[in-house]
Amino acid sequence: MSQTADADLHRHYIGGEWSDGAGEETFDSENPATGETLASFRRGTEDDVDRALAAAEDAEDEWRELSYIDRAEYLWDIYHELRDRTDELGRVVTKECGKEISEGRADVIEAYHMVEWAAGNARHPHGDVVPSEIASKDAYMRRKPRGVVGCVTPWNFPVAIPFWHMAVALVEGNTVVWKPAEQTPWCGQIIAEMFEDAGIPDGVFNMVQGFGDAGAAITEDERVDTVLFTGSAEVGLEIASKVGGEPGKLAACEMGGKNGIVIAEDADLDIAVHSAVMSSFKTTGQRCVSSERLIIHEDVYDEFKERFVEVAEKVTVGDPLEEGTFMGPAIEAEHVEKIHKHNELARKEGANVLVDRADLDADEIPDGHEDGYWVGPFVYETEYDSDLRSLQEECFGPHVALIEYSGDMDRAIEIHNDTDYGLAGAVISEDYRKIHQFRDDAEIGLAYANLPCIGAEVHLPFGGVKSSGNGYPSAREVIEAVTERTAFTLNNSKDIEMAQGLSADITTQDDD
Ligand code: UN1
Repeated sequence: MSQTADADLHRHYIGGEWSDGAGEETFDSENPATGETLASFRRGTEDDVDRALAAAEDAEDEWRELSYIDRAEYLWDIYHELRDRTDELGRVVTKECGKEISEGRADVIEAYHMVEWAAGNARHPHGDVVPSEIASKDAYMRRKPRGVVGCVTPWNFPVAIPFWHMAVALVEGNTVVWKPAEQTPWCGQIIAEMFEDAGIPDGVFNMVQGFGDAGAAITEDERVDTVLFTGSAEVGLEIASKVGGEPGKLAACEMGGKNGIVIAEDADLDIAVHSAVMSSFKTTGQRCVSSERLIIHEDVYDEFKERFVEVAEKVTVGDPLEEGTFMGPAIEAEHVEKIHKHNELARKEGANVLVDRADLDADEIPDGHEDGYWVGPFVYETEYDSDLRSLQEECFGPHVALIEYSGDMDRAIEIHNDTDYGLAGAVISEDYRKIHQFRDDAEIGLAYANLPCIGAEVHLPFGGVKSSGNGYPSAREVIEAVTERTAFTLNNSKDIEMAQGLSADITTQDDD
């Protein structure tokens, strides 16, 4: 943390203006592949959040009075800017969070898909016409904005996830206060510039850069009507429990997973190996949907193991800006430490280690990248035991267990469901009955068959069950978290008639 007063420092965006904020502290964004400083930012304080929330509250009436279509116009401008600048912004994503370049671009593409969905949805019906028991009544379900939405987003999808949160929230008529992840403030800066370019009315969109204290100041403030959070289970569960005790406030949280892939005895092993490698190692295992458990039937265990290990030994870790790279670095030094600790824990718990590239050889690290946060695949096999912490705790890295099972799908699904989490999972099988059983019985929000368990599309709901989430702060389902549903009933008759046979007669003493 530096203490400079550099004029080039990037600022917060509050009430339609760039602001230094109240604090003196600054922080840097770093390229995790090289360790180089990319840009410097003001660190937001509680006072900055306070001003941002006041601006968001002030802007509420003006914004909600616009039509859906007019609100969406601002988002269409952003959609076009995201499309026009996909390559440029994709490179920024890759430089700032280390994902390889196709993933950097995909992050931006996912963002404009979300904006497209939200803005396009402005012209779609927003409620239902519902029959009434009384013929002379019309009944409707209508939606209203909830008010101020507080958004806290993670570094691993630094462009897509902010738009998961904000695009629908804004089109639906809410104003927002957003804190980007402290690891990816440069992406946050560019997104804020896009809102400014679009000319969104002052105070409708506000961004405060900073750390967890600024995030907590947003989520804990009573002016916030809905909290949208994507990130760690530890923080998400804390937010959900606090917000749960505040009347009228809602939290939609999406957290991590200890995601599993079931590989049945009839699996096509080409598909199995391909899906497992992508699920475990893409994004260097740093997706909430990454897989850390491969649950493999004994009949195909040895062959799968041999083929999976062969790829894990060779998969390219390197410069994420190079097209041929499969895995970039981990996000930061502390995260490399954490991944090593998980690998160590597996060893201590008796794992048989099959691949250990956690400390890459010097010749695997690209020139000029010696100061990057490098970590390679770690693959182990272990006897299934529910008490093993390594099978329960999320590592969020390229760390994966092979677990052999015998018996039928009941057994595979029992192992699969034996975790507090429930985000994503996959089954690899040629038998539609097994696939359907997994679809129905796996305790997850995102289920895949004959595919990796990553790669959700924005027009599907995205979210988990159990400790993986209590709502859907993303994709189309976020609409439930950022709108209030009103049941509206209109009487077309001059008489008042009630449903359920309820008497509408009023008797008075005069009736006696
Ligand atoms: C995440 O894992 O953190 O499903 C988000 C996917 C992406 C989003 C993942 N579209 O892989």
